[in-house]
Amino acid sequence: MIGVFDSGFGGLTILRDLQKALPEYDYLYLGDNARAPYGSRSYETIYRYTLQAVRELFSRGCPLVILACNTASARALRSIQQQVLPFEFPDRRVLGIIRPTAEEVGRFTRTGHIGIFATAGTVSSGSYAIEINHFYPELKVTQHACPMWVPLVEYGERGTEGAQFFVQKEVDALLAEDPEIDAVLLACTHYPLLEKEIRKSLPERVRIIFQGNIVSEKTVDYLRRHPEIEKRLTKSGKVNFLTTDTAKFFEKGANLFGMEDISAESLTF
Ligand code: DGL
Repeated sequence: MIGVFDSGFGGLTILRDLQKALPEYDYLYLGDNARAPYGSRSYETIYRYTLQAVRELFSRGCPLVILACNTASARALRSIQQQVLPFEFPDRRVLGIIRPTAEEVGRFTRTGHIGIFATAGTVSSGSYAIEINHFYPELKVTQHACPMWVPLVEYGERGTEGAQFFVQKEVDALLAEDPEIDAVLLACTHYPLLEKEIRKSLPERVRIIFQGNIVSEKTVDYLRRHPEIEKRLTKSGKVNFLTTDTAKFFEKGANLFGMEDISAESLTF
């Protein structure tokens, strides 16, 4: 199975795109719903939680785990890759979603000015700015934290006037900081669900970059380049769900993220 980890429900937006691009594989999704959101937690805590989840997915037979969470990718991936895998799991792989996204963003801008919406944790890690700068040193990257957006989605406020107000507020703040921005990256798994509100708040000339399809294309490419991992993945097109909250809580909440009639298994670390 391909393990897909997120702090909660958000990674379901990435899972959906992975399934579209790679429908033949089996997936094991783990949402740490009992401890979500991660967005404003400390580096140490996010690292500890993420490592627990990765260990769990490994122990259930995933040779490859994708951290489908920007906050976990920003704050835990590098340490897991450098300090844990080589010593404990040399034949397993953990991938994040920041680098693959950073590799592609340059294609979406003409002015060379990019805006990034993300959680406070992702913004303060500086990961996007560092990674994008690596591939596109000439791009001007302006990051903006939107702490209200995840709760807006999770509390079912999409499509309301309140949601529109809070989206407009952050969009205006970002564009005031750099009016030359012509592309914005939704660098948090929840934000694609606010697409309507974000589109309405942005001037028409500004493009929205969604990372789900970028990540899935990059995963296709990764598996092509790494047959030693690919051949260990099972292929019967199944998806199983694990959650650190109750199964009922997950099954109900997943509806908001477009996953209906699923059944989940509850686990405690
Ligand atoms: N999944 C997280 C992300 O992509 C958002 C939710 C959270 O803060 O835990 O950053």
